[in-house]
Amino acid sequence: MGPPILFYLLSLNRSLENGYGNYEEISKRISQRRAKAANMDSQHLLTTTRSVRKRLDFDRPVEREVLEKCLEIALQAPTGSNLQSWRFMIVGDPEKRKQISDLYRKAFKVYASAPNPAQPSDASDPRVSQREKVVSSAVYLAENMWRAPYLVIPCYEGRVENQGVLAQASFYGSILPAAWSFMLALRAHGLGTAWTTLHLMHEKEAAEILGIPSNFTQTCLLPVAYYQGDDFKPAQRLPVQQVISYDHW
Ligand SMILES: Cc1cc2nc3c(=O)[nH]c(=O)nc-3n(C[C@H](O)[C@H](O)[C@H](O)COP(=O)(O)O)c2cc1C
Repeated sequence: MGPPILFYLLSLNRSLENGYGNYEEISKRISQRRAKAANMDSQHLLTTTRSVRKRLDFDRPVEREVLEKCLEIALQAPTGSNLQSWRFMIVGDPEKRKQISDLYRKAFKVYASAPNPAQPSDASDPRVSQREKVVSSAVYLAENMWRAPYLVIPCYEGRVENQGVLAQASFYGSILPAAWSFMLALRAHGLGTAWTTLHLMHEKEAAEILGIPSNFTQTCLLPVAYYQGDDFKPAQRLPVQQVISYDHW
């Protein structure tokens, strides 16, 4: 019996000697402590699930059971009208991984050489100070994506590129929460990924390689591998007061 349990039993006994009221008090304190611990864990998970690129361990195989467990968790996400019209394309075959990664790399080159006027330039903006690191990490991923044991492409049935905002929001809102839950579940199981979209420049070619039917939309591409080290930290974001409005914009 470890010291914490021994201490707990001794203190429980001491309190019980003082009457039934104390037993209730102790149960209450234990549930409060449990609730606090659970809350801290989920907060840590939610604030430290980063885009992992340079720290992906490409040499460690990923077990199918772990992958499927994380996808099972992802399937708890909401879908419009509870349709669940999702399909997760899992690419483990080395030749296909190479082909999809080549499409990604080709798109990344185009993206990296194009001007991006939307980028902020104010030196005090946290996005500016992080840019160099993000770029170096993204370049690394573009060169090495093929080495990830699995590439996962969350797909959803339907095409909405020619539809209005409601249809688009309902469509993407039915698959992207699951993709994010998948990322969180991976993190909780010691695996990492980075949300990527650039291969979608060549969505059709990817569909041909993987046999994805033309009525399904690919929504992102997640390279999956175990991560190395575990000191992920909350990122610097814009201050919350800068991004909220109460009652009027
Ligand atoms: C819609 C979307 C598209 C993204 N596309 C890419 C991508 O193609 N390649 C990449 O390396 N990262 C991509 N990212 C990851 C972002 O660069 C990353 O989320 C951002 O730099 C913040 O870093 P963090 O996720 O570690 O907090 C994308 C993220 C989102 C949400």
